[in-house]
Amino acid sequence: MTYSIALNFEDGVTRFIDCKVGEKVLDAAFRQRINLPMDCSDGVCGTCKCRCETGTYDLGDEYIEDALSEDEAQQRHVLTCQMVPESDCVIAVPVPSSTCKTGTSQFAASVTRITRHADAALEISFELDQPPVFLPGQYVNIDVPGSGQTRSYSFSSRPGEKHASFLIKHVPGGLMSGWLERARESEKVAMTGPLGSFYLREVTRPLLLLAGGTGLAPFLSMLEVLAERHETQKVSLIYGVTRDQDLVMIEALEAFAARMPSFSFVTCVADPQTRHPRQGYVTQHMAAQMLNEGNVDVYLCGPPPMVDAVRQYFREQGVAPASFHYEKFTPNAIVTGDAA
Ligand code: FES
Repeated sequence: MTYSIALNFEDGVTRFIDCKVGEKVLDAAFRQRINLPMDCSDGVCGTCKCRCETGTYDLGDEYIEDALSEDEAQQRHVLTCQMVPESDCVIAVPVPSSTCKTGTSQFAASVTRITRHADAALEISFELDQPPVFLPGQYVNIDVPGSGQTRSYSFSSRPGEKHASFLIKHVPGGLMSGWLERARESEKVAMTGPLGSFYLREVTRPLLLLAGGTGLAPFLSMLEVLAERHETQKVSLIYGVTRDQDLVMIEALEAFAARMPSFSFVTCVADPQTRHPRQGYVTQHMAAQMLNEGNVDVYLCGPPPMVDAVRQYFREQGVAPASFHYEKFTPNAIVTGDAA
C-alpha cells in the first residue's frame, strides 16, 4: 500500500510521489528523483520544513524544538525528513521546483469533442495518453498547435480520468479560440502541468465559491470531487457573468445540486439590460449566511478586478474569512494566490 503525496512547489509546479507506509517523505521523494531541501536529515536544522495542506501524518518524535516549534507544528508545518504520512497528503514546498531538480510533467492529448456555447465559451474534451494526476482546481499549459505558444486553462473535469475537459472563454481573434474554430477530432496537442496553488484544501468548514465567467471551470472539477465524496459541509457557489449568454453549464450545476444536498448556487449578470432575476456583481448577491460570520473558506476564480472587488467588499463588511484562495486570469495568463 502507498499514499499519494502531492508536492506543490513555490512556482506552482506540482509533482505526485508515492510514499510507502512508514516511509518518510524526504526518502520517498529522493527515491523518485526529487531532491527536497535538506541538510541534516536528523530533525535538527529545520532546512526541510514545509507545510502539509491536507492529509494526516505522524510528525515523528526525533526532532528538536529549534527545527520545528510547537506553534509551527500546530499550524501544520512539518519536517519532511521526519514526517510519515498516514493518508494521501498535499505538501506546500517553499522553494521552486528547479531547486529540487524537478519540473512539470508533459501529457500528450487528442481532441475528442468541442462544444460551443454560443459566442461565450467552448468546452473542449481530450483523451490523454495517461490519466492526469492533479489537484482539483489546478491548471495546465496547453500548446496551441502551429503557434509555438501556450495558453493556461483549469481542468473542469475531475483528476485521474483519461478524458479531461476544459471550459474556455471565446475570445474573438484570440489565439486558442482561433485554433478551436479549426480544430478537428483526434487532433493532437501537448500539455504541461499540473500547476497552481489554487486547489481544494481539506474541507473543515462551509465553502463559498465565487466564479466569474469561465472561472467556473476549476469549480466544476472541485464539485466533481466534493459530490463523489458526499461532502456534508455547506457549499455555496455564486456564479457571475457579464452578459446573459455568458451563463453556461447551468445543467451541470443543477446536476451537482441534485447529487449533493449541501450544495446550492446562484447566478447573476452584470449587464444593466439583463432580464436575469439577479442583476449585478457577485458581491451584491452574497447573503450573510454564505459568509457564516467569517467561518468560511473562500475560493475565487475570475478576472483581476473581481478579485480586488471581493477583497474590498470583505474589508467593508468587516469580514475576515478563515481562508481566501484565488485565481486571477486574463486571456493570456493565470495567477494564483492566497490572501489573508
Ligand atoms: Fe534538517 Fe530535516 S533536514 S531537520
